[in-house]
Amino acid sequence: MAEFTLPRNSKVEKGEFYPAPKGAKNTKKVNVYRWDPEGEGNPRLDTYEIDIDKCGPMVLDAIIKIKNEVDSTLTFRRSCREGICGSCAMNINGTNTLACTCAVENGKDEVTIYPLPHMEVVKDLVPDLNGFYKQYESIEPWLQNDEEPEGDDERLQSPEDRAKLDGLYECILCACCSTSCPSYWWNGDKYLGPAILLQAYRWLADSRDKGTERRLESLDDAFKLFRCHTIMNCTKTCPKGLNPAKAIAEIKKMVAERL
Ligand code: SF4
Ligand code: SF4
Ligand code: FES
Repeated sequence: MAEFTLPRNSKVEKGEFYPAPKGAKNTKKVNVYRWDPEGEGNPRLDTYEIDIDKCGPMVLDAIIKIKNEVDSTLTFRRSCREGICGSCAMNINGTNTLACTCAVENGKDEVTIYPLPHMEVVKDLVPDLNGFYKQYESIEPWLQNDEEPEGDDERLQSPEDRAKLDGLYECILCACCSTSCPSYWWNGDKYLGPAILLQAYRWLADSRDKGTERRLESLDDAFKLFRCHTIMNCTKTCPKGLNPAKAIAEIKKMVAERL
């Protein structure tokens, strides 16, 4: 998986140290970024030493254990625990990934966790994704087709047309790719970023959708689409193994062919 240099806030101080329980033989230090909008000592990196013989195998298991047994104020998002919902995306050891599919055992003595980079932080490991979801809304992520379906009530696709959605429909909108993209870091208010553009291409590639012209017209914009400079961080980091950079290239091709 790709490693990134995390743009660290130089003001992050060393925070509290919580030692492992007595008798623990197999321990690991988990360093966690803390930021509390109502607290003091922000931001800081707290260190929790955990007994990994008494912890599930994933980083999400470790932070749930910390929250349940050591520090109930630690805040993070999670839901499915199996890489499906996208809520537990965070920066673990320098890589944006899903805490629930990332092993605690990493061959090192420590695990270091930051929120997804370059986003406003709501609290601790929770980034503010309001702008991200507004951008998702802006691409109108639903089937656009005013024609009545033929025959029965379903809009059928050939197996070949259905196959064009492979590598797109699996996106769980975790935002790992967008928050690894330098263009999105600097222009995240105007550039749609790889996650949203992959989602936009998911509808452009759908044989049942009739909104192609309108969708392309809206995407043909120096910032929304053309801020992608093919740096490829997005594809390297996607925890689902998808290729947003390729989807963006396909949209650029469709825009060029339309001119
Ligand atoms: S393309 Fe991959 S990294 Fe980006 S939002 Fe979708 S699943 Fe997450
Ligand atoms: S390929 Fe484009 S979207 Fe992906 S990281 Fe690079 S600039 Fe960002
Ligand atoms: S908790 Fe759902 S993807 Fe990790």
